[in-house]
Amino acid sequence: MDSLSSEAEQYERIGTAVFQSSDDAVRLVAGSIARLIGERRAEGRTAVLGLATGSTPVKLYRELVRLHNDEGLSFANVVTFNLDEYYGLSPHHPESYRYFMQVQVFNHLDIPPENIHVPDGLVPRSEVFGYCQEYERKIVAAGGIDIQILGIGRSGHIGFNEPGSAVDSRTRMVALDRLTRRDAARDFRGEENVPAYAITMGVGTILEAKELVLLAWGESKAAILREAIEGPQIDTVPASFLQRHPNCRCYIDEAAARELTRFRSRWKVGPVDWTPLLIRKAIVSLASDLNKPVLRLRDEDYAENGLATLILETGSAYSLNIRVFNELQHTITGWPGGKPNADDSNRPVPAVPAQKRVLVFGPEPLDAELGMAGTLHRLRRHQHEVTFVYLTSGNLGMPDNEARMAISLLNELSADRPADSQGKSRLAQLTDELEKKAPFDEDSPALRQFKGVIRKAEARASCHVLGLDPSQVLFLDLPFYEKGRYRQFKSTDEDVTAIRQLCQRIQPHQIYLTGSGAEPGSVSGISFRLVVLALKECGLETWMKACQVWLYASGERPWSPHEIDMAVPLSPAELALKLDCLYHHRSQRSQTPFLGTQSGESWQQAENNNRSTAQHYDRLGLAEYEAIESFRRHKESEAV
Ligand code: F6R
Repeated sequence: MDSLSSEAEQYERIGTAVFQSSDDAVRLVAGSIARLIGERRAEGRTAVLGLATGSTPVKLYRELVRLHNDEGLSFANVVTFNLDEYYGLSPHHPESYRYFMQVQVFNHLDIPPENIHVPDGLVPRSEVFGYCQEYERKIVAAGGIDIQILGIGRSGHIGFNEPGSAVDSRTRMVALDRLTRRDAARDFRGEENVPAYAITMGVGTILEAKELVLLAWGESKAAILREAIEGPQIDTVPASFLQRHPNCRCYIDEAAARELTRFRSRWKVGPVDWTPLLIRKAIVSLASDLNKPVLRLRDEDYAENGLATLILETGSAYSLNIRVFNELQHTITGWPGGKPNADDSNRPVPAVPAQKRVLVFGPEPLDAELGMAGTLHRLRRHQHEVTFVYLTSGNLGMPDNEARMAISLLNELSADRPADSQGKSRLAQLTDELEKKAPFDEDSPALRQFKGVIRKAEARASCHVLGLDPSQVLFLDLPFYEKGRYRQFKSTDEDVTAIRQLCQRIQPHQIYLTGSGAEPGSVSGISFRLVVLALKECGLETWMKACQVWLYASGERPWSPHEIDMAVPLSPAELALKLDCLYHHRSQRSQTPFLGTQSGESWQQAENNNRSTAQHYDRLGLAEYEAIESFRRHKESEAV
């Protein structure tokens, strides 16, 4: 729960509870839903729930199903209204919200079917207006919504109320925002397959619920949450209208809360304990805001920007500037595996052993390359024993057309060969499936496997660019992924064991992973948690005590220098090599919209991030590099 006082929350216009883990948050929310249902049952009344879809509420729904199965919570007196539905999708479409709700919730609870309401995506266009009015009438007839669950889109939408939605908007048909469609592109395997329209409850409809609960996990939501919670009420951020509701609360995790003033600039909301890390953060942000190199900050700059206490408590600008400048300088190294025979007292990585065993984990192909291809190349060039492990094959993200291309290639190759009847008939079956299916339909196991093979081939080709030979590249094909699909992954001990056994076999001196700030149900978020759990199991082993665990930035905003413990500069040639490596993941063009960005291919964004980190170091007065890849030490206290 909130560890900080209300003084710290003075900028927040919606009550916000911040949790170390989303598990704790959903338990609390599920608990209050269960209480409401129980109270209403005792009174012989129904409880009316407003429900959302998407990744965010998945854990909440699992907890409700658990309460039903394990603790006998009945939903027989529950009425539900869903916020929205894609227009044009039938209830059986695998990406329709109705289908999502059936699979995640309704099939597992005893809600009477007649009590369930999800907007119908197939209402003829001419009847939509009347249909929407009727949806509203049904909500009123049910007594109004008692608790409305909400997620937030990166566009600032609630339901599908995109920017521009009025505060008094009602249930209606809307056009989806470009960013929303990009975010859904992965589910539909291509932005072009995402419906352009939806039916959604209006902002006004939502605000009439008696209680609003907004959930958000992961740092991709941090920027928009700050606008919604601390910014002005404005229709370009429809979620900001939640500030008007007398009984609205946000339940968010630490990653999603990072841009709130109490976390971003804690010194602005009351007295702080000036730890070295906080000092670094304050000074980097002061220098960045004033666009001044760290060494040129004056006492007045501190005093005029809310940092007078820092000067009073710790000395002069002069000494603080030098201290932070040195700290930042010491993060920069061209020797990510340690510099042999060098004094390493101020280097991020120890000099010994000179040749290290390095284990790099990539959640899906492309993630690690985006974050650290240049560093991987360096580690390899410096003769370290690198093992690059793809935790999953990434077969879920492959568009059908890539599979068609590979089939055509194989057909061509086998055309003049004696018929390998088995191989040919397999290809024929795949061709047949591809002809019949829509791009977003679930793939058969055979097609998924085939797509996985293509992604692995791309991954090997991209590793070749980095100097890694196939024996250094492993594919773990973790069961949680191979048996699951987006938003429905369920990891087990089997996943953790596979990772632990690999670590125990390699006994690395360095491990690289990503995903600490990712949405917990995403492949990155799950992979992060699994690796951390596996490492915990190895905790007492000798090699583990000496092992450095590094987090790389992938699929995210560029990190600020105060967060970086190791900055690996890339020369122009290394950056070009990195891009070459990324291009080999050709099937992922437009499939992996980068978190935190509105547009552009993921590799363009990776390049921009690496360049902008270098420019940031330069503006702080350090050195002028072409690009920088960023890493931070993993702390055991980090939530899993
Ligand atoms: C869906 C809905 C949307 C989502 C939002 C976040 O019913 O109401 O507003 O809550 O798009 O989506 P996720 O949770 O997938 O990040």
